[in-house]
Amino acid sequence: MKTLIVGNGGRESSIAMKLAEDSCVYAVLKHENPTILGYVKKTGGRYLIGDTNNAELISNFAKEQNIDLAFVSADDPLEAGVVNELLDAGIRSVGPTREGAEIEWNKQFANELMNEILPEFTARFWSARDLDSLNDVFNQIKKENLEIVVKPQGLTGGKGVKVMGEHLKNLEEAKKYAAEVLANRIGKSESVIMVEKLQGIEFTMMALTDGKTAVPLPATYDYPYRFDGEKGPGTGGMGSLSDKVLHLPFMTQKNYEKSTHILERALKALREQGREFSGVLYAGLFLTKQGLKFIEFNARFGDPECMNTMSVLDSSLADALEKICDKRIKPSDVKFKNKASVVKYLVAPEYCLSPGKPHQFEMDAQAIKSEGFQVFFSSAVEANQANHFKTVGTSRNVAIAAVADSIPEAASKIDDCIERRVRGPLQYRKDIGSLNELQRLKDRAVALRKQVD
Ligand code: GLY
Repeated sequence: MKTLIVGNGGRESSIAMKLAEDSCVYAVLKHENPTILGYVKKTGGRYLIGDTNNAELISNFAKEQNIDLAFVSADDPLEAGVVNELLDAGIRSVGPTREGAEIEWNKQFANELMNEILPEFTARFWSARDLDSLNDVFNQIKKENLEIVVKPQGLTGGKGVKVMGEHLKNLEEAKKYAAEVLANRIGKSESVIMVEKLQGIEFTMMALTDGKTAVPLPATYDYPYRFDGEKGPGTGGMGSLSDKVLHLPFMTQKNYEKSTHILERALKALREQGREFSGVLYAGLFLTKQGLKFIEFNARFGDPECMNTMSVLDSSLADALEKICDKRIKPSDVKFKNKASVVKYLVAPEYCLSPGKPHQFEMDAQAIKSEGFQVFFSSAVEANQANHFKTVGTSRNVAIAAVADSIPEAASKIDDCIERRVRGPLQYRKDIGSLNELQRLKDRAVALRKQVD
């Protein structure tokens, strides 16, 4: 079977790894991602360097190469309607259409939908399209003395969300940033969303779906902040973890079941509205003292979370995607290793701090893999010397993933591997998955539950 990947992040690298187990991998990508190209070459596929949002280009490539199944896994191509174009061209495809993916690219739509179908899980939110309505919203927030999070309505790769008390000192700064979102149309937004700030623990719940059945995946915990101790600006995610069991150390089985229910209920609502959805539905959720709360939906695998899922997925991804296309996926079709997983991204020193410049780094990816790790390149290409790489763009550069019997074991193996095997200026977070960090999360969860009792 010929499978097509669209995109070039660490997420797509891990998808390529799994698809290469039993299919011939093709790819459309913006740059020569060494991991994806490695699997394309190994399986005898082909690739095209081009604009991954250009639906016509991708569909023409898929037709020329007689692709059997395309998997569109990144937010921008989904918003651009790449799946619509592929389906129109008769290519079997996994991923929501632009209409299905609106649950991610339009945060106002997602919040309104949740408020309608599951109000008990939905935090308070407001939206404004112009300065007059922004004034009204902020007057109300001020009167109620609330802390808020400001979000562009559209896609910003996780970097447009600002939180009061963390990135925004006070309500005045929050209002200024909200006005900036409107004026500069950050994330192509026509409106700006203000959400009540939640106190608790954020986690990710994802399900594979054919639009009807949701196959829940291991819950994951993503570290969105740039520096250890959750300091610094928000990023696309500096690393993530999943546990041996399907839920996380700070969650209960009931939390996991409720999270699955949220995904199932949202899929039902999309179906009832006639929106085509397949692939992965992602819910960003918060464990609070008021119980589980919804933050956002994504219409795709999280990045880095996908690398956790692919690292522990024991069954065939290609087979699951085929079943999704045939609308006959079942939970028993998807199996996981009984292992914990950790992913850590290496990034340029300037990542999310300043415009940055190209860097070179050295790593022997084959040697790292032979030690049992996975290397998932993202914004990096090969340099002119063996085992040397150049960063491209301003995104995350390369991730290392490990599986082990426990999260701290996987995390410390990665730290040790990076220290021994990676040379150059790239930085990573050392606290992700550490024993202390897990204890902090568990203590926090206990404190939240006590407040509920
Ligand atoms: N890790 C968050 C995201 O993929 O949006």
